[in-house]
Amino acid sequence: MKLSLRICWCLSLFAGLAGAAKDSCVECHSSLDGNLQKPATLFSDSIHRQRGFHCTDCHGGDRTADDPEASMSRARGFIGKIPRTAVPKLCARCHSDAALMHKYNPKQRIDQYAQYLTSVHGKRIAAGDAAAANCVDCHSVHDIREVRNPLSPVHPLRLPQTCAHCHADKTHMAKYQIPTSQFDEYRKSVHWNALEQRGDLSAPSCASCHGNHGATPPGVNSVAAVCGTCHVLMENLYSKSPHQPVFQSMGVAGCVVCHSNHAVLPASDKLLAGDKSVCTQCHEPASAGGAAAADMAKSIERLAGALRRSDEALQRAASLGLEVSEAQLQQQEGREALVKARVAVHAFDPAAVNEPVSQGLKVAEATYRSGVDALAEGNRRRVGLGISLITIVITMAGLWLAIRRIERPSRQGGL
Ligand code: HEC
Ligand code: HEC
Ligand code: HEC
Ligand code: HEC
Ligand code: HEC
Ligand code: HEC
Ligand code: HEC
Ligand code: HEC
Ligand code: HEC
Repeated sequence: MKLSLRICWCLSLFAGLAGAAKDSCVECHSSLDGNLQKPATLFSDSIHRQRGFHCTDCHGGDRTADDPEASMSRARGFIGKIPRTAVPKLCARCHSDAALMHKYNPKQRIDQYAQYLTSVHGKRIAAGDAAAANCVDCHSVHDIREVRNPLSPVHPLRLPQTCAHCHADKTHMAKYQIPTSQFDEYRKSVHWNALEQRGDLSAPSCASCHGNHGATPPGVNSVAAVCGTCHVLMENLYSKSPHQPVFQSMGVAGCVVCHSNHAVLPASDKLLAGDKSVCTQCHEPASAGGAAAADMAKSIERLAGALRRSDEALQRAASLGLEVSEAQLQQQEGREALVKARVAVHAFDPAAVNEPVSQGLKVAEATYRSGVDALAEGNRRRVGLGISLITIVITMAGLWLAIRRIERPSRQGGL
């Protein structure tokens, strides 16, 4: 009796579940073609499906009715295809609702829509310009995944392509007065290289500099702060340098004037002096700025040269099996001083560069001495070894002669 009751209960539960799972929208649309079928197939990979939502949560209608007239009836709230300019409000219905979102995930942010309204995209869509990005242009529609999923179109490695969909399309952007080169330029940068080649997720993708929902170009005055979220030391020095106030009043974007925004290339000492110098854009070689550039380049090259010299000496000594490990360790301090000197360039004051350079030179001098001393000691040992070898050979030869001399008379005596 008890058992049959339990079976009954199980069956009714199963039937209940089957009832709950009844979804005529998916059933019917799965059997259609093209754009009518795609949403039904894609939806199974969606975070919304995984959280138990249905087609009706966005499109309205009645998923328990089989008859399309009934299921897609306006009387049952069916809104059909959602116009591009109406999408953000639709998503915000849930995503700006703290009570609802926090039921699923207490850490979920609820400011996407509010941020979005402040962006160039949000403002244009609100003004009825359907060419700007709405939520589904960045996130996809029926297969929206969690943002940390590598298949999500907003994952840092996929995001440039997602933005480029419009921003690299000359036809799409034709009516606006902005370049369409950001994607191509960004793909040449150290940043994309670090992200793509080395999987370094600390390197910036488009949204790291532009924000995701509030996407705007950083204004002239905030560029240094944007780059400075990661390059903290450079920003500190730059903001106290003589350039900061003059660039601000000239309307020149801080870091970008020397490094570019999208095509940020690897830095090198060549940016200071020579034909690749970034300073010559504004300073004649004879001016105070030009002289400072040459001075800093010379200091840095002096330290780099001194470190190369001691590296060579230490390597030669090590390859001969001489003990220089302590000096090699100390050499690391010299290399750190060189890094500091290159960072100190951003004070645009030769004295700031000279400080780490003179510390580094002291280290390089000491390590060079250690290398040279080790090599001299090696030489002494080799000479010592040679002398001992010769002594041994002479002694052995002497012994051999002595033995011969002792043997000869006795043999003669035997005859
Ligand atoms: C028995 C089949 C059937 C069922 C059930 C059904 N649909 Fe449809 N749906 C269609 C067909 C066929 C079309 C295309 C013709 C049309 O627009 O009426 C369509 C069109 C649509 C469109 C596009 C409308 C447009 O304006 O372009 C949406 C959105 C849609 N259905 C969503 C739903 C949702 C949500 C449900 C469940 C509540 C649902 N459908 C149930 C067959 C069905
Ligand atoms: C998270 C909200 C959401 C859910 C859930 C959702 N849709 Fe949509 N759907 C949209 C939006 C937004 C559009 C308009 C897309 C656009 O502008 O490209 C759309 C468009 C469509 C279209 C028109 C496609 C076209 O290219 O003409 C169909 C058909 C459709 N949805 C069916 C479905 C079906 C069937 C389901 C359930 C399997 C579903 N949708 C679930 C938001 C949703
Ligand atoms: C210009 C592209 C773009 C648009 C438009 C956009 N998003 Fe996003 N969204 C992103 C990116 C990029 C991330 C990932 C952020 C990250 O990795 O920290 C994200 C993250 C999210 C998240 C995860 C939580 C969070 O805030 O990080 C949600 C939810 C979300 N977006 C919803 C929306 C909604 C709703 C809209 C429309 C009102 C929208 N997005 C419009 C690019 C966009
Ligand atoms: C019916 C309510 C509802 C609607 C409408 C809705 N969402 Fe969601 N969405 C959710 C919930 C709940 C989650 C799961 C949140 C979680 O578990 O962190 C979610 C998750 C997401 C995520 C993944 C967030 C993450 O942290 O990775 C994105 C992105 C997203 N939604 C975008 C959209 C977009 C774009 C639209 C409009 C086309 C939309 N949603 C419409 C309720 C909704
Ligand atoms: C659906 C197409 C589309 C997508 C996708 C898109 N955008 Fe846009 N974006 C536009 C349009 C159109 C404008 C308006 C241009 C204008 O007003 O100058 C714009 C404006 C901008 C602006 C302001 C430019 C200015 O100077 O006015 C920035 C910054 C921007 N987008 C960044 C992004 C980033 C970053 C992404 C990807 C995360 C992205 N966009 C994705 C279409 C798109
Ligand atoms: C390292 C930071 C950074 C990254 C990464 C970045 N941008 Fe920018 N972007 C900027 C800065 C800074 C500006 C403002 C330029 C100025 O004032 O000189 C800008 C300007 C823009 C503009 C306005 C038009 C223009 O070209 O001046 C658009 C659109 C844009 N970026 C899109 C993108 C897209 C799309 C990506 C990804 C492919 C991207 N950005 C990646 C920093 C970045
Ligand atoms: C989200 C963090 C982040 C932001 C924002 C960012 N960067 Fe970077 N940057 C990195 C990382 C990571 C590297 C790669 C360092 C490496 O190659 O190991 C890098 C490398 C560089 C390099 C090359 C350094 C070298 O050793 O050759 C320069 C120059 C640079 N960034 C300038 C900028 C400028 C200018 C901006 C603002 C327009 C900016 N960065 C914004 C993280 C960031
Ligand atoms: C007036 C030109 C100028 C400005 C402005 C400028 N830099 Fe530089 N930056 C340089 C030069 C020159 C170097 C190369 C130094 C060297 O290697 O000798 C450099 C090097 C770098 C490096 C690589 C340092 C290393 O370890 O090799 C990074 C990262 C960097 N800059 C980021 C920034 C950021 C972020 C800003 C804005 C806060 C900025 N720069 C502003 C000229 C500039
Ligand atoms: C975008 C133009 C611009 C670039 C690029 C630039 N500077 Fe300047 N710099 C200025 C302006 C403007 C001043 C204010 C004093 C002046 O008018 O000469 C200044 C001032 C200076 C000063 C203070 C001495 C003085 O002339 O008052 C030094 C030092 C300096 N710059 C070094 C450099 C170095 C080194 C570089 C390259 C790494 C560089 N600058 C790149 C525009 C620039």
